Amino acid sequence: MEYRKLGKWGIQLSELSFGSWITFGADLDSSGVKECIKFAFDNGINFFDNAEVYSNGASEMLMGDVLQLFPREEIVVSTKIFWGGKGPNSIGLSWKHLIEGAKNSLKRLQLDYVDLLFCHRPDPNTPVEETVRAMNHLIQQGLVFYWGTSEWSRSQIEEAHQIATLNHLIPPAMEQPQYNLFHRYRVEKEYASLYDSVGMGTTIWSPLDSGILTGKYNEGIPEKSRLHNHNWLQEHLSYTKVEKVRKLQKIADQLSASCAQLAIAWCLKNPHVSSVILGASQVSQIKHNLKAVQLKAHLTDEIMQQIDAIFSISGK
Ligand SMILES: NC(=O)c1ccc[n+]([C@@H]2O[C@H](COP(=O)([O-])OP(=O)(O)OC[C@H]3O[C@@H](n4cnc5c(N)ncnc54)[C@H](OP(=O)(O)O)[C@@H]3O)[C@@H](O)[C@H]2O)c1
Repeated sequence: MEYRKLGKWGIQLSELSFGSWITFGADLDSSGVKECIKFAFDNGINFFDNAEVYSNGASEMLMGDVLQLFPREEIVVSTKIFWGGKGPNSIGLSWKHLIEGAKNSLKRLQLDYVDLLFCHRPDPNTPVEETVRAMNHLIQQGLVFYWGTSEWSRSQIEEAHQIATLNHLIPPAMEQPQYNLFHRYRVEKEYASLYDSVGMGTTIWSPLDSGILTGKYNEGIPEKSRLHNHNWLQEHLSYTKVEKVRKLQKIADQLSASCAQLAIAWCLKNPHVSSVILGASQVSQIKHNLKAVQLKAHLTDEIMQQIDAIFSISGK
């Protein structure tokens, strides 16, 4: 496992990390969560991702129980604030919800601080200055070490930086965007200038497009799969995608790898990716996907060109 800096910042994240969206508290009960997190940690993963909204807080509680097993200095923990409940002040990026939401997350995680705290989406109802000041405050209080954004546009990230610079506040260090072979534009084009100009790190999500890039949906939707269990995600599956995955399979065959391993290794090849967040409904998937770390070295320029010929950057 390689450890990568979060953009220009000093903290180091394992290039593969592990997240809890949809799985913790659903596919994975407390013993499944423990097995997966322990396996990940024992195999070099140091970064674990969560959010206040995942399973309405239960995901943080399940993760928190297991994280107690590890020395705090050896793990990097993130959570994300935006959707904290139903009330008008339990949602968004106001000073009130950011501070209350972060404190509630820390209680559920049984931690004194999180290493990374993300604004889970932009909030059109709150001035960006209020959000920057609240995040700066959380860092000054020692409750958070680095703050970042998730699915903010380049101009929104630039605005946060300008406000931080003008007011001598701490700027966002990282962004958590979707990034996979089907979803390249934002990370590769829209954000391109930010890696140098502000030293932004990225912790990318859904490297397998919820499993579509494994090839498991090529012949339909198998029972007990994510798209079967969460049928609102089925809108992401299309004939065009399946055709592309079939072509990817041929390249994976040449490398004696699986589509999943190749799709993850491809994300790892991007030097602007600080960490690829894996999701898993069973420990065997983590074990399988970890082999992407070795595979990455075999992705020659020629292989990358073959992949580019199948998956375009221009689509969002
Ligand atoms: N910031 C955000 O807005 C945001 C949004 C989404 C996710 N995230 C973060 O990113 C993390 C990863 O996202 P993700 O879970 O969508 O990642 P993903 O890698 O695209 O999808 C993971 C799912 O694919 C299936 N899978 C994985 N490996 C497989 C394999 N080898 N063979 C067959 N099936 C396999 C499993 O689902 P089944 O077995 O159930 O089919 C697994 O739960 C999340 O946990 C969360 O921490 C952040």
